[in-house]
Amino acid sequence: MIFKQHFVFILYSLCASVFKVAGTKSKAKGGQGQFPITQNVTVVEGGSANMTCRVDYNDNTSLQWSNPAQQTLFFGDKKALRDNRIELIRASSQELTIKIGDVSLSDDGLYTCSLFTMPVKTTKAFLTVLGVPSRPEITGFTKPALEGDTITLTCSTLGSKPAANIRWFRNDKEVQGSKELNATGKSFTVRSSLQFQVDKGEDGVAYTCSVEHVSLSNLYTTTEVLEVHYAPLLEISKPKIDPLEGQYFKLECVSIGNPIPEPVLWSKDGGELPDIERMIVEGRELTITTLNKTDNGTYRCEASNHLGTSTAEYKLFVYAKDFPGPTTDPNALGQHGPDHALIGGVVAVVVFITLCLIIVLGRYLARHKGTYLTHEAKGAEDAPDADTAIINAEGNHVHAEEKKEYFI
Ligand SMILES: *[C@@H]1O[C@H](CO)[C@@H](O)[C@H](O)[C@H]1NC(C)=O
Ligand SMILES: *[C@@H]1O[C@H](CO)[C@@H](O)[C@H](O)[C@H]1NC(C)=O
Ligand SMILES: *[C@@H]1O[C@H](CO)[C@@H](O)[C@H](O)[C@H]1NC(C)=O
Ligand SMILES: *[C@@H]1O[C@H](CO)[C@@H](O)[C@H](O)[C@H]1NC(C)=O
Ligand SMILES: *[C@@H]1O[C@H](CO)[C@@H](O)[C@H](O)[C@H]1NC(C)=O
Ligand SMILES: *[C@@H]1O[C@H](CO)[C@@H](O)[C@H](O)[C@H]1NC(C)=O
Repeated sequence: MIFKQHFVFILYSLCASVFKVAGTKSKAKGGQGQFPITQNVTVVEGGSANMTCRVDYNDNTSLQWSNPAQQTLFFGDKKALRDNRIELIRASSQELTIKIGDVSLSDDGLYTCSLFTMPVKTTKAFLTVLGVPSRPEITGFTKPALEGDTITLTCSTLGSKPAANIRWFRNDKEVQGSKELNATGKSFTVRSSLQFQVDKGEDGVAYTCSVEHVSLSNLYTTTEVLEVHYAPLLEISKPKIDPLEGQYFKLECVSIGNPIPEPVLWSKDGGELPDIERMIVEGRELTITTLNKTDNGTYRCEASNHLGTSTAEYKLFVYAKDFPGPTTDPNALGQHGPDHALIGGVVAVVVFITLCLIIVLGRYLARHKGTYLTHEAKGAEDAPDADTAIINAEGNHVHAEEKKEYFI
C-alpha cells in the first residue's frame, strides 16, 4: 500500500515536471518568435469566404491581410481597399478575420497575412474559388436524322473550375465520348463528343449528357432523344387458315418505317386487283370474301415514304373445297417439303439395300457351309475303284503312281 502511494507520487511529479518544461518552452517561443497562422479556404463562386489570421502570443503588434495583387485589404481594424464586398469580422491583438462576400473567380489566389514585428513575418493562405459549370448543352442533333447519316453529338459546359467531368449515357448505359478542354480565363470550357452512324435501332434512343463537379451536390444532366427516319420494311403476315375455295381470306401487310409508310398498295401478278367486288382493301389489309381457284397468283403490297419504297409478296394457291386439305402452306413448302421427301426416300433405299445384302449373304453362307462339309469325299466321285479313290482322296499324285505299280 505504502509502496503504491509512493509510486503514484513519483509518477505525478514526473508528469508535472514534463508539463512545466513544455510550458516554459512554448512561452519562450511565444515571447521570442510570434508567428501568424492561417488556413486555406475553399468557396464556391458567389459565396463568401472568411479569412482568419491568428497569433497565439502577441504584444499588440499589428496584423494585416493583403490580396494576391499585394493590395492591403485590412491593416488591423482599418480598411485599406475600397471594395464593399470585403468587411471586418474580428480584429484583436491575436486575430484578424475578414470576410469577402460574393466571391468571384478573380478573387482566387494566394492571400498574405503579415505580422509587423521586426522583421515582418508573413503566412500565406490559398483562397480557392470553385467555378460552377453551366448546365450542359447538347448540339449536333439533326432532327430527324436519316438512316446512314453520321452524326456528332457534342455536349458542352462552360465556367467550371477545376474542369468539370462530362459523361455520356445511351439509354442509361455509359458510353465513352472524346473530351476536349479549353481554359478561358480562370475557368474551363469542357466538351465531349460522340460520333456514330445512325441506323433504325437508334430511333427513339435517349442520349444523356451529365456533368459532375465538386461544386455540385447533384449531377447536371441534359437528355435528347434521337429520331431516325428510315425507309419502310414490309412483310405479309402468313394467314393461319389454309386457303380453300369459297372461303373468306385475309392478308395483312405489316410495315415499319419512319415516317410510317402510307398508304399500302395491293396488286396481283403485276397488275391491278382483278375483282374489286370480292377483294376489299382496308388500310393494310386485303380481304377476299369468297376464294375462287382463279385467285391463284402472286399478291404484292407496296409502301413508301420519302426515304424509299419497299414491297412484300405472297403466293396464293387456292385449294378445291373437296380437297382433303393441305397440311402445309405452299409458301413454306419450298423450304421443308422436298427435304423431308428426299430424306425419307434415301432412308428407304438404304434400308432396302441392307435387307437385300443380309438375305443374299445369309443364303451364300448357308450353301458354302454344306459344300465344305462334303469336301473330304470329293476324290471318290471320279475314282474308278476304292483303292484309287483312297489315293485320290489323299491328293498325292506321286504316291498314287507308286501304289499302282505295287498292285500290278
Ligand atoms: C494550402 O494550399 C496550397 C496550395 O493548394 C498547399 O500547397 C498548401 O499546403 C495548403 N496549406 C494548408 C495548410 O493546407
Ligand atoms: C464568417 O464569420 C461570420 C462571423 O463569425 C459567420 O457568421 C459566418 O458564418 C462565417 N462565414 C463563413 C463562410 O465561414
Ligand atoms: C496592448 O494595448 C492595450 C491597449 O492599447 C494595453 O492595455 C495593453 O497593455 C497592451 N499590451 C501589451 C502586451 O503591450
Ligand atoms: C479550344 O481551342 C481551340 C483552339 O483555340 C479551338 O479550336 C477549340 O474549338 C476550342 N475548344 C473548346 C472546347 O472551346
Ligand atoms: C369462280 O369464278 C368463276 C369465273 O369468274 C365462276 O364461274 C365460278 O362460279 C367461281 N367459283 C366459285 C366457287 O365462286
Ligand atoms: C391453283 O393452285 C392449286 C394448287 O396448286 C391448283 O390445284 C389449281 O389447279 C390452281 N388453279 C388454277 C386456276 O391455276
